[in-house]
Amino acid sequence: MDVFEAIRTVLAVRAYADRPVPHEVVQKVIEAARLTGSSKNDQPWHFIAVERAETLKALSEVATSGRYVGEAAFAVAVAVRSDSIYGVSDGSRAVQSMVLAAWEEGVGSNWIGFANLEPVEEILGVPDGYDILALLSFGYPAQSLGRGNKRRKPLAEVASSERFGTPFE
Ligand SMILES: Cc1cc2nc3c(=O)[nH]c(=O)nc-3n(C[C@H](O)[C@H](O)[C@H](O)COP(=O)(O)O)c2cc1C
Repeated sequence: MDVFEAIRTVLAVRAYADRPVPHEVVQKVIEAARLTGSSKNDQPWHFIAVERAETLKALSEVATSGRYVGEAAFAVAVAVRSDSIYGVSDGSRAVQSMVLAAWEEGVGSNWIGFANLEPVEEILGVPDGYDILALLSFGYPAQSLGRGNKRRKPLAEVASSERFGTPFE
């Protein structure tokens, strides 16, 4: 898939078909995360792939803003080193790599973030010194999606040319 086409069409997918995603795709998603560039190439992250149904269910019981992880084909938890001031930016960049790599394979995903992620650390055995930044759920979309049908602010509201407020065309 063309990179811009992937960016144009990818959407948050929260409902998944009851169909497994091949392990090779999971490997590709993790590799996309590993290859992502980080500040000073510090790579202050650790990615935990979860494919076991019982672990996905346990995650869904604590992830209050993403219960649907229980129906996902797999999930990836992104842990970042607590002492890294760039952990959030670096980890977020790796998230986008994974989302796009999965989308190219027809696999939808979503970022489950911030609400009640501490128990996730316990379930996944994340050691002290790391914080969970995001839990990503992945799976083939349950419904076909309007490709590229997004609700986004108009260009004039979010972009300028040369100086803030000068219309960008
Ligand atoms: C930092 C961050 C945290 C998010 N947290 C959640 C979340 O906890 N639960 C959820 O269902 N979606 C979450 N999302 C997904 C957003 O709601 C989604 O990206 C946004 O609504 C745009 O969706 P669309 O691309 O389908 O238009 C999060 C997204 C980001 C970037």
